[in-house]
Amino acid sequence: MSNYHIKHLEEYYKVYRKSVREPKVFWEEIAEEHFVWRKRWDKVLSWDFKKPEIKWYEGAKLNITENCIDRHLRTNGNKTAILFEPNNPDEEAQHITYNRLYERVNQFANVLKSQGIKKGDRVCIYLPMIPELAISLLACARIGAIHSVVFAGFSATALSSRINDSDCKMVITSDGSYRGKKTIDLKGIVDEGLEECANVETVLVVNRINSEINMKEGRDKWLQPLLDDASKECEPEIMDAEDPLFILYTSGSTGQPKGMVHTTAGYMVYTAYTFKNVFNYRANDVYWCTADIGWITGHSYIVYGPLANGATTVMFEGVPSYPDYGRFWEVVEKHKITQFYTAPTAIRALAKEKLDYVDKYDLSSLKVLGSVGEPINEEAWHWYNDNVGHKKSPIVDTWWQTETGGIMISPLPYVTPTIPTYATLPFIGIQPALMDENGEEIHGNQVDGRLCIKFPWPSMARTIWGNHQRYKETYFSAYEKKYFTGDGALRDATGYYRITGRVDDVIIVSGHNLGTAPIEDAVNEHPAVAESAIVGFPHDIKGNALYGYVILKETGESRDQTNLRKEINQIITEHIGPIAKLDKIQFTVGLPKTRSGKIMRRILRKIASKDTSNLGDTSTLLNPEVVQEIMDNAL
Ligand code: WT7
Repeated sequence: MSNYHIKHLEEYYKVYRKSVREPKVFWEEIAEEHFVWRKRWDKVLSWDFKKPEIKWYEGAKLNITENCIDRHLRTNGNKTAILFEPNNPDEEAQHITYNRLYERVNQFANVLKSQGIKKGDRVCIYLPMIPELAISLLACARIGAIHSVVFAGFSATALSSRINDSDCKMVITSDGSYRGKKTIDLKGIVDEGLEECANVETVLVVNRINSEINMKEGRDKWLQPLLDDASKECEPEIMDAEDPLFILYTSGSTGQPKGMVHTTAGYMVYTAYTFKNVFNYRANDVYWCTADIGWITGHSYIVYGPLANGATTVMFEGVPSYPDYGRFWEVVEKHKITQFYTAPTAIRALAKEKLDYVDKYDLSSLKVLGSVGEPINEEAWHWYNDNVGHKKSPIVDTWWQTETGGIMISPLPYVTPTIPTYATLPFIGIQPALMDENGEEIHGNQVDGRLCIKFPWPSMARTIWGNHQRYKETYFSAYEKKYFTGDGALRDATGYYRITGRVDDVIIVSGHNLGTAPIEDAVNEHPAVAESAIVGFPHDIKGNALYGYVILKETGESRDQTNLRKEINQIITEHIGPIAKLDKIQFTVGLPKTRSGKIMRRILRKIASKDTSNLGDTSTLLNPEVVQEIMDNAL
């Protein structure tokens, strides 16, 4: 990609206005300037949010791996593409150059072919954060197979339902994985899951932990010997712009996970262009996103976006607490990380620990800090800004979704002045709209409503695998001719956006609209509080009242709980008003979290409402054991 970056706010507004007034011209120029195409598009965009049907760069032919690998070889073949940092700090980091990545992806692609995988086939990838994970995505893309990565923390049941939903023929996994001090028997989970999956013909197994595993005759094959026999050249399959690149599942409000389908050209263009601008990427940077490739963050901003820019992207196998809470900062110092992108939940966990874990490392290489996945509360924002960025690295609070494919609302570092808890301004080309309860768009500033997007962008998901009707109902039916995000947001006097949380987390108390996120922000301001979650429960007079689950920094707390409750409510009164006071405050040691670190409010709402007869499936939680603990101590 060219080296040009937006330099100041005036220029952002100028480019933004152009992207909105002439979107087709704008996205045509970006596509022409930054990528290699086998054939040019006939039409930049056609769209219909009613059907809904969205097509970008129709008629174009390309292979995304030529853009992510081949074209960098001439100038940057010896540059590190993937920098692998293992779980165990004593194990050496691996620098995989673009030349080596080319060979490894091609060999893997040839293995897929030799095992009967063809263009359009679905391949399930269930791997830990090791180089083979990124390589397997690219190998699928090389031959036009559709990858479906399932986060390797999901249970056997979650895995099998995803494999079956998209009818995968193959599973790529490993014998096991390392996670801090523990090892996890991944292959055992796959074996259990596959009992329910009749159509899986082949399981390719990476040897990561050298464990004794069961290999099913005729189905399971060690990967390495196959790779050793495979050629290092593999002609890329020439894909249509709108051919599916991958499926990635996201949980819905109910039942079956949704297999979001992302296609090739638009996804490539948008993830590459956002990566460059949101992270202010420069040629010698060492960029680190701590997400797992099992999530969209990893697909777009560990693999495709960085590699399309010829960047060095770090893959970290471990956890932030191993061997101690300084691991992230040790890695930043060791590899002289320039951009660091993580989640608020990780920041809050680390902020609970001694400052010494951060202070003892040299973090002066950092230029940009990122946050993603949930609203970042003010306290966490300041901790990140003060202790990691030393007030010199701008924080980009990036709002987006699995469905959007790429970052939608975010500051541009060194361009957009930041305010804690604000994702600030829409990215170039993104047209947000706030909607009221009558389905009308709310114009002007200092307003809040439901966040929609009213014009297509290149990386939006095109459908839900096998269920276009559900795609239409979930995203395009709440508001006419608009994509509905499911989030609420406010737009302040200057046009900055603040995401207030999922709309279903908004609680109406005595007719007042209260977001849980700002209340939690306030509660977290209390010096004794580590984390909190607020939910609504039915109340005779107010309609709903508020229930707070609060984790204290010090467990075995000897403080007077009645007093603490008063103090917490005092802070809420100060920050928001007496209307937002909590009727009940339960002190707890943990909150039920999904594997991606999101609080499962559904469960907390049920417990608060004393409706625990049907809590639903808690097996995919990070910490299922905490549910019983909370129930036993419910107020
Ligand atoms: C939901 C999407 C996008 C990658 C990871 C999550 C929430 C995400 C932010 C942010 C406030 C955020 C939204 C969104 N969210 N980023 N910066 N500020 N909220 O992907 O699992 O599809 O979740 O995460 O509620 O709708 P996801």
